[in-house]
Amino acid sequence: MCGIIGYVGKKEALPIILDGLHRLEYRGYDSAGVAVQSSVGIKTARAVGKVAALAERCEGKSLAGTAGIGHTRWATHGKPSEKNTHPHTDCTKSFFIAHNGIIENFQELKEQLSKIGHTFKSETDSEVIAHLIEDAYKKTLNLEQAVQSALRKLRGTYGLAVISSLEPERIIAARMGSPIVIGFGEGENFVASDASPLLSYTRTMLYLEDGEMATLTPQAHTVRTLNDKIVMRSAEMIEWDANKIQKGGFSHFTLKEIMEGPKVIENTLRGRLIAEGGLARLGGLQTISEKLRTAKRIIIIACGTAFHAAQVGEYMLEEYAGIPVEVEFASEFRYRKPIINSETIVIAISQSGETADTLEAIREAKRKGATVLGIVNIVGSTIAREVDAGVYNHAGPEVSVLSTKAYISQLVVLALLTIHIGRERQMSLSVGRRIAKELQELPKKMEKIFESAKNIKSLAKKYAKYEHMLYLGRKYNFATAFEGALKVKEASYIHAEGCGAGEMKHGFIAMIDKEFPTVAMALQDSVYDKMLSNIQEIKARSGRVFAIATEGDKKVAKFADDVVFIPQTLEMLSPILAVIPLQLFAYYLTLERNLDPDRPRNLAKSVTVE
Ligand code: AGP
Repeated sequence: MCGIIGYVGKKEALPIILDGLHRLEYRGYDSAGVAVQSSVGIKTARAVGKVAALAERCEGKSLAGTAGIGHTRWATHGKPSEKNTHPHTDCTKSFFIAHNGIIENFQELKEQLSKIGHTFKSETDSEVIAHLIEDAYKKTLNLEQAVQSALRKLRGTYGLAVISSLEPERIIAARMGSPIVIGFGEGENFVASDASPLLSYTRTMLYLEDGEMATLTPQAHTVRTLNDKIVMRSAEMIEWDANKIQKGGFSHFTLKEIMEGPKVIENTLRGRLIAEGGLARLGGLQTISEKLRTAKRIIIIACGTAFHAAQVGEYMLEEYAGIPVEVEFASEFRYRKPIINSETIVIAISQSGETADTLEAIREAKRKGATVLGIVNIVGSTIAREVDAGVYNHAGPEVSVLSTKAYISQLVVLALLTIHIGRERQMSLSVGRRIAKELQELPKKMEKIFESAKNIKSLAKKYAKYEHMLYLGRKYNFATAFEGALKVKEASYIHAEGCGAGEMKHGFIAMIDKEFPTVAMALQDSVYDKMLSNIQEIKARSGRVFAIATEGDKKVAKFADDVVFIPQTLEMLSPILAVIPLQLFAYYLTLERNLDPDRPRNLAKSVTVE
């Protein structure tokens, strides 16, 4: 998720843009850049790292002008570097664009444009937009129409701001899937990715809708659709403060990021599913496709929440790709003597891409000749740079220390990887299609679970008094139990113990009494009856049970004290839905204990030390 800001008016644009970028830094901060329209054309400055680095870079340059755009980057394609930093420009340096989103068909557009002589400077998907506008302008000689023509060729998402030296004092903005808001001042107008950077200048704003574009000059604005229909919609007064806006109106980033789950699934899947063919297209694995085809086994290494995703991935890959998989804590793998060779694929999962144990485990695996594949959220992170190949999550920045939406994205990537590898081995077309189709259904099904948020919040009130909890799960939701327990531990400091339900009778059940409740994953799947028996064993020992069950299940409510239902899905994908009530439960437990879920004590977002 990147941050965009633009200004056109009578004041110097640069200070307004830099101030706005500082307020947008929460959206992404691996690099930032500005383009300012001066009387002698458009001048730019770019810097890797935080906005402060850009401000420093600007000091040495005369970026005078009363119109300009700025961008703070969360990389999706192309690592953080100056050449990949927005604003991007075309061959003639007449058009400058700042983009937030993912252009799915950028490769084919890039090839078409290169064939007619365009040269590209960056590795990003966004740069194609500038060249498309350059190309269109030769025919339209009109910036608004050129942008319109370019946008019609894009597939994917964009929040966009465009300026051109050929039509000074004008900003074109557009929205498809990534928010864009227009701010109205006296003799000046603004564009931004959200309202937070505009609040100190104006509260009169207009949110663009998908498929709309706006033309801003100091005195006026017009809004039209891509098929040229003028849009007459009045502006609104924005009452929220910047902090509330950055959290999307939620009280904490934790809740915002849980609720982003459906969008994260869509973004993780974007451009990667060929549903008709039951295939998954993972461009980042092309260089190791032969290794993937002939590999004899897979070891997945990770820490914390990523480790739990790995455990689900093990079951997916073994059942549907027919390849032996082991899962190891990275912190163990790196110190023991793992037997690996060139026929071993090691997969490293890491949201931050900077976890020290995972990084060292990767180096150890490479020393022993394994091919290493990364599943990473932060583009250009150390792990992303050290693995042989990889798949980016495209989950957007995860601000809360609690990993929630990244976990969802990791599971979706593992399902894509299962299709990708499976369809090159035993997986049939029909199975591939079934998984692909169900993956596409997940966002809608996840939205439905949010309707239970109020019920989950009241359950948290009931359970907040307990100091101990047992989390039980089996098979695909074995890991869900451990992930749910981890969320509670790290957010509310309650002692929550994950346990494979089959293991309960081997010791754990001794702890159960009326002061030690259990959260049980009792979905209607291949281990449903076993889970029902576990619940009855707990009830027989006066233990309270909160069950996660499948919508329409009439039996669980007879045994469990509390039930939250989730929609039916394929068993291999059920952890993606089943974890949502547990994330919300942990979040509300934390509030019941008057703690801050975004910043739990003793924890860091990225454990870069051993
Ligand atoms: C998850 O809620 C925790 N914050 C922590 O376990 C985290 O998952 C772990 O440190 C791994 O981080 P990574 O995915 O960035 O490597």
